[in-house]
Amino acid sequence: MLPVNRLGSMLVLGTLALSAQSQKTPTYLAPFVTSPIAVVERMLELANLKPGEVLYDLGSGDGRVLITAAQKYQAKAVGVELSERLVKLSQERIKQEGLDGKCSVIHGNMLDVDFSQADVVTVYLMRDSNDILRPKLEASLKPGARVVSHDFEIRGWKPVFVDKSDATKRAHAIYVYEAPKKK
Ligand SMILES: C[S@@+](CC[C@H](N)C(=O)[O-])C[C@H]1O[C@@H](n2cnc3c(N)ncnc32)[C@H](O)[C@@H]1O
Repeated sequence: MLPVNRLGSMLVLGTLALSAQSQKTPTYLAPFVTSPIAVVERMLELANLKPGEVLYDLGSGDGRVLITAAQKYQAKAVGVELSERLVKLSQERIKQEGLDGKCSVIHGNMLDVDFSQADVVTVYLMRDSNDILRPKLEASLKPGARVVSHDFEIRGWKPVFVDKSDATKRAHAIYVYEAPKKK
């Protein structure tokens, strides 16, 4: 469960982070808040993730999306994470689960990383952060790649599906998109 006050803090912190750097692109696009496992499972189900496909979780936190994608869907999962602490934590978890070679984590800024090989991209950022990420998604993704966003829509894109999951005590929205054709 994501407590309401924690979500509130996330939104406030994120808004402060974005507005404090309004003159340039902020580096931190969202604070670390985990997606509940039930929501992660629903995101991957809605993404129609298939064995052997490549999934990128942009802002991969503790690695839970990567681990679930590899264990339940036999996907090749790549995380991108800015926090060194979370990169180390997720790498330890991947090793503990015996998923070396199936999951990896890039320590870096998602805006600088090449994720053009992705069949599925997952994000749990914020609305304004999705605005910042959207041009890179549009420039990078193969047509038809699926993008799944927890709680925050990608403005300017039309979702192919919106799920309102009550997997935990609060409602979670899951937005599913297909990458548009390149202009
Ligand atoms: C809300 S958490 C989501 C974690 C995980 N994807 C999940 O759903 O449980 C967002 C994550 O994005 C990371 N992050 C924020 N800005 C980033 C950036 N520019 N590049 C890479 N990671 C970033 C944060 O450190 C945090 O771990």
